[in-house]
Amino acid sequence: MNEVITIDGPSASGKTSVAKLVAQRLGIPYISSGLLYRAVALMCLLENVSAEEIEKRLPKHRLELQPTPTQNLVFLDGHEVSEALHSLEVDQVVSAVAVRPAIREYVNQVLRRIPPPFVVDGRDMGSTVFPQARYKFYLTATPEVRAQRRVPERGAAFDTVLSEIIRRDEADKHQSAPARDAIILDTSYLDLDGVVQRVLEHIHPLS
Ligand code: C5P
Repeated sequence: MNEVITIDGPSASGKTSVAKLVAQRLGIPYISSGLLYRAVALMCLLENVSAEEIEKRLPKHRLELQPTPTQNLVFLDGHEVSEALHSLEVDQVVSAVAVRPAIREYVNQVLRRIPPPFVVDGRDMGSTVFPQARYKFYLTATPEVRAQRRVPERGAAFDTVLSEIIRRDEADKHQSAPARDAIILDTSYLDLDGVVQRVLEHIHPLS
């Protein structure tokens, strides 16, 4: 099996959890592309500069993503920064980073260097980064369901998380359209196992 399987969707649609489990069931690595945008957002915070300025500084930095069976490790200039990528501060900066075409191209190059097979989650993996992928999925769920899922992870109030999700949906909408050949799964009323099951039904048997 030498496939790329893409799982796209809006923030907190469950794509990372689904991608991890699908990859585990198939015995291949999973990649979370959002971590690379988060790492660039972290660079802005660390250097206290705008997305526009960090774009100019990218050639000075080295960004790597290393998949392990349980998580993705992200290295910025040789330092592991994975733990720092899921704060509300990073959430607030990341969309400004992700709208910049040169930053998107930089992230896409990091992704395309990773040898298949893998399951990758993101916004535009099926439409732009891996258009040749054999299996493409797009997960959706209502903003309220997504906020509810993210509250424990963020340790913030439901309303704060919901407004952040709505703001990010709006900011991300241009890079978030499903690929024309993606299978769309509404996960609002499915639990994690249910979604994983649906995805695997489409993939099996892999040739
Ligand atoms: O998936 P995650 O929520 O970690 O992604 C963080 C942010 O990175 C998204 O809100 C979006 O702005 C950006 N992103 C993107 N394209 C991707 C993955 C993430 O624009 N493929």
